[in-house]
Amino acid sequence: MKERIEKITEELNALKCKTEKEVEDARVRLLGKKGEITQLFDEFRTIAPELKREFGQKLNVLKKDAMAKIEELKAAAAASGASAGSGEDTTMPGEPHQLGSRHPVSIAREQIVNIFRKFGYDVAEGPEIEDDYHVFEALNFPPNHPARDMQDTFFVSNGHLNPLLLRTHTSSVQVRTMEKSQLPIRVVCPGRVFRNEAISARAHCIFHQVEGLYIDENVTFADLKQAILLFAREMFGPETEIRMRPSYFPFTEPSAEVDVSCNICHGKGCNICKGTGWLEILGCGMVDPNVLEASGIDSKKYSGFAFGMGVERIAMLKWQVNDLRHYFENDMRFLREFSTCVDV
Ligand code: DAH
Repeated sequence: MKERIEKITEELNALKCKTEKEVEDARVRLLGKKGEITQLFDEFRTIAPELKREFGQKLNVLKKDAMAKIEELKAAAAASGASAGSGEDTTMPGEPHQLGSRHPVSIAREQIVNIFRKFGYDVAEGPEIEDDYHVFEALNFPPNHPARDMQDTFFVSNGHLNPLLLRTHTSSVQVRTMEKSQLPIRVVCPGRVFRNEAISARAHCIFHQVEGLYIDENVTFADLKQAILLFAREMFGPETEIRMRPSYFPFTEPSAEVDVSCNICHGKGCNICKGTGWLEILGCGMVDPNVLEASGIDSKKYSGFAFGMGVERIAMLKWQVNDLRHYFENDMRFLREFSTCVDV
């Protein structure tokens, strides 16, 4: 073993390589799976115990030197550009870059926002960490309303009067917009919201909403209905019908939930719309006078409507995705299906 170690050491000292290929060959010959040094390590297991110390040290030094030498030769070969002369054709086209694509939730959010931009709406954003006042109080939530309950809301600090929390809806941006904008107001507010919900096919603790707000003199429920109808037809196709069902939200009066005619069965009834022919897309209503007054707007002179929709929900309906969790799992097979989608 001693002679072989010495022989390899000598070879190593004399080793010269011109190209990266030669370096790689030398690496395989010495350190590869069946390389000379690797074999010595295999044999080392069978030598007499009293020799182990001496040869163990020698072998380790040899291996370390060999690795260092190979690295050194590799760097030298690469630096001298020797590989270019080694028969490789450097004019060959390179490996194509795989282009990424936008996430379906981003695509849906952009589509929604762009539709309202076309109608003349501005875009407003607000903080994700909000205070109780902007998320609840200014929106007419009575102090003991269940939406303020710990079960729905992630609290960040429990300041007694106005605790900080992760906003549970983008309606808070309505309030911030009303506080600082001049009238009339026409905005959509896209953003991320947070709720303390168990994750399932239909619910997640983080999702996205787009909120809309329109305030001017003489705004009526008919204007709201028309805006939603136009939106639904742009989003889901020109044949789409809407229906409004009475509902309740603390910040709007009257309030409604809006359904669109099912874009799969066109109203006949299928398993996507559970046989009803309709799919719920958003909540809306006329802004409650209390909400206008809380932000310093004269409710005798001005009126307005608001609406709020879940982006994931719209995206699920538009592309027939049956499980919300797909949007958060980053499975490339799912994401690639949207690589050709464009904004409207
Ligand atoms: N903020 C409501 C929610 O998260 C959605 C909503 C309903 C927004 C009605 C509105 C509205 O502006 O008018 O459930």
